[in-house]
Amino acid sequence: MAFFRPPFSVHTMLTVLLFFLLSPVLFSRASKLEDGIYFTLEDERVSFCSRFLNISHQVGCSSLRSGTYGTIELISNRSELVNLLGRRREDKVVIFMDYSLFIDENLLRECRTSEIVSAIVVFAPDYSDPDTTSSLNFSENSLCPNGLYSFYNLSRECNDPYIINPSSSSYALIDWPFPVVLLRDNEGELRRNLTICYETFNVKPIDDTRCSLEIRNFMSAVGSSSLCVERQHRVPFTLFE
Ligand SMILES: *[C@@H]1O[C@H](CO)[C@@H](O)[C@H](O)[C@H]1NC(C)=O
Ligand SMILES: *[C@@H]1O[C@H](CO)[C@@H](O)[C@H](O)[C@H]1NC(C)=O
Ligand SMILES: *[C@@H]1O[C@H](CO)[C@@H](O)[C@H](O)[C@H]1NC(C)=O
Ligand SMILES: *[C@@H]1O[C@H](CO)[C@@H](O)[C@H](O)[C@H]1NC(C)=O
Ligand SMILES: *[C@@H]1O[C@H](CO)[C@@H](O)[C@H](O)[C@H]1NC(C)=O
Repeated sequence: MAFFRPPFSVHTMLTVLLFFLLSPVLFSRASKLEDGIYFTLEDERVSFCSRFLNISHQVGCSSLRSGTYGTIELISNRSELVNLLGRRREDKVVIFMDYSLFIDENLLRECRTSEIVSAIVVFAPDYSDPDTTSSLNFSENSLCPNGLYSFYNLSRECNDPYIINPSSSSYALIDWPFPVVLLRDNEGELRRNLTICYETFNVKPIDDTRCSLEIRNFMSAVGSSSLCVERQHRVPFTLFE
């Protein structure tokens, strides 16, 4: 099982694999058994938060080099998430949540400092619906994007009442301790499939089998501009710009 690194050897894991670099060579090695156990989310559906660097700091996200792994937790509301974060458990969890929970900054702060969270997967809003997107009122950028490089007077542009980006969250400037993935599922089919897997194996498990997710998009610094362009090419739509 080439891609499979369970943290606890006693667990037989049902794994949903998420590959950033999809290699046909890897697939040709997969056995019939693995085809039945693993399910790969297509590239077109996912957008990864990526790593950004300057000389002294890094922001953004990366999976572990060997892949980030966790038991799936499908969260439907705030109280469920708070309960989950308050519980002690041995395994790490990949939290699936709606966009409305993701943009709740207080909740996200709790997730970022939690020791049980290994990744967050966010169901993207339906971007084709203008009502949904306008009601979100969320920007991952800072209050004064590019303020330092602006031609105009900084304090005039960035201070009340001239704030140019009032719905700023500055999410894009956070050094996330785990990968964050945006998942497009307008028809809700993927959510239904995941719910079946989650309810069958994780809610009331009958044995050690769990519905889990592995995320493979390890990001180190970009060594050349051609690689940088190539990477942008692979990511179909971006949350963190
Ligand atoms: C790198 O980014 C950090 C955070 O935005 C900033 O404080 C620091 O001055 C930057 N360093 C350089 C060398 O640009
Ligand atoms: C949150 O979701 C759970 C699971 O779907 C449900 O049992 C619970 O009633 C919900 N709580 C609230 C406050 O909506
Ligand atoms: C920038 O704008 C603020 C507010 O309009 C003003 O008080 C300040 O003197 C200006 N600074 C410069 C360097 O022009
Ligand atoms: C969006 O959020 C900002 C800052 O929280 C607030 O000032 C503004 O009124 C909000 N706009 C809408 C349309 O909700
Ligand atoms: C959901 O599961 C069905 C049955 O296994 C499969 O045919 C379909 O492709 C899956 N849908 C998605 C979006 O993954």
